[in-house]
Amino acid sequence: MAEWSREERYRCIEDVDKKYLEILKQQVKASRFRQTFHIQPETGLLNDPNGLIYHNGKYYISHQWFPLGAVHGLKYWFNYTSDDLVTFEPQDTLIKPDTYYDSHGVYSGSAFEHNGDLYYMYTGNHRDEQWNRYASQMIAKVQNNGAITKFDAPVIPSQPEGYTSHFRDPKVFELNNEYYAIIGAQTNEELGCCLIYKTNDKQLNQWSYCGEIDTKLKNFGYMWECPDYFKLDSKDILLFSPQGIKPQGDQFRNIYQSGYLIGDLNFDSLSFDHSEFVELDNGFDFYAPQTFLDENGNRVLIGWMGLPEINYPTDEEGWAHCLTIPRVLSIENDQLRQRPFKGLERLRKNKETALGYANKFNRKLHPYEGKQYELIIDVIENDASKIYFELRTSKQNNTKIIYNTGDQKITLDRSESGLLPENVQDLTRSTVLDSPLTRLQIFVDTSSIEIFCNDGERVLTSRIFPNENATGIETSTETGQVYLKFTKYELKDE
Ligand code: FRU
Repeated sequence: MAEWSREERYRCIEDVDKKYLEILKQQVKASRFRQTFHIQPETGLLNDPNGLIYHNGKYYISHQWFPLGAVHGLKYWFNYTSDDLVTFEPQDTLIKPDTYYDSHGVYSGSAFEHNGDLYYMYTGNHRDEQWNRYASQMIAKVQNNGAITKFDAPVIPSQPEGYTSHFRDPKVFELNNEYYAIIGAQTNEELGCCLIYKTNDKQLNQWSYCGEIDTKLKNFGYMWECPDYFKLDSKDILLFSPQGIKPQGDQFRNIYQSGYLIGDLNFDSLSFDHSEFVELDNGFDFYAPQTFLDENGNRVLIGWMGLPEINYPTDEEGWAHCLTIPRVLSIENDQLRQRPFKGLERLRKNKETALGYANKFNRKLHPYEGKQYELIIDVIENDASKIYFELRTSKQNNTKIIYNTGDQKITLDRSESGLLPENVQDLTRSTVLDSPLTRLQIFVDTSSIEIFCNDGERVLTSRIFPNENATGIETSTETGQVYLKFTKYELKDE
């Protein structure tokens, strides 16, 4: 793809010729990789989910957006609303880079409710002429007519002493009737961490610095992006996206990670007694997740199905990325479980089921075709050494899920999935399940796959870019046989 100059990346959408945008829209619309039940940008690049909230009977889901092409440039927030978290109404740009403080990007942030009103706290990204970065945390209020009013000045003008200007992505939460903000940061020694601020000023203008969360991770990457904090079943969970972690066996193989710590966080001393960092997703494309409460009080997580610094096959078409489906979190055996949001069942159409044995001869179990579907595979009896599930198959393509019975390792093999993102290490991602494989629940969209293993024990999320005729579903084993039940639904947003 042609290089974008800095000038081109930092152009405002308002200054761009309408014709250019119209042509871009048409070009993107024609892409054969457009998703059908995921949030994706109409043009340009989507990254982090922002400002997730259920407020006054509606869901508000925004995301980082550079409208003009598939590169990281001047960021806006683009907003969707939803009644059910299943279908989403695109609205418009929500927060724009139109002040001195956010002149170089309205960066990530969160939503919160105060006195019945909806507010956002986000990072204003400013660069000076020498391209030095200045980060401040800003608040915007949503008026009754939906318009946004920004506070005149940042509520947190800069990072505290001892930290660099990599200081961003505030997540606001309420604790003991006070608002706190957790912010991703970097120490002067270039170590990633999270900082805590607190307000008890009802105007939300003054936020005081409480300190850095004292975790047991003393040297864990150079920057922690997009932190989130919440309580689940009386446990404290700190979720963040660290950068600069080296691969370790099957872990941490993507360019950047996202995961969580679970334990007890003392808000007076900020000391956090926690278990080890666990990755939230074991696929190729997952980053910067955020959580919020749904209308029933469930903790729901949505991530960016993409990563920075990777070239994706749709870049050439002028768009990139999508958000993941929502997942509901729970704690079981001191670990987070992630199950697909139940409301997604509303998209199910044309149920098909099949029951049968698969062995080392490639078997097509009916129902054996599809491009956008949910497939539930129950493993009823398994005497096979390895089970292969192949989805989106054609003569040229297949996306393989391999289960190795001996060590309970599950592998996603993207080597023959079709067009491949560039600058990605390896063609497989693997993780060892805690228990033998009994169920896979797989969501396939035109260019993505989200695999939930054993009722939310592990998730592997990836983009795939197969040929249009790659619709087959096949199963086989290495040796031995397996008795399976397939339940497949087409997924349609109608
Ligand atoms: C994470 C991130 C955030 C930042 C935003 C900018 O992907 O780098 O830290 O706020 O993206 O788009």
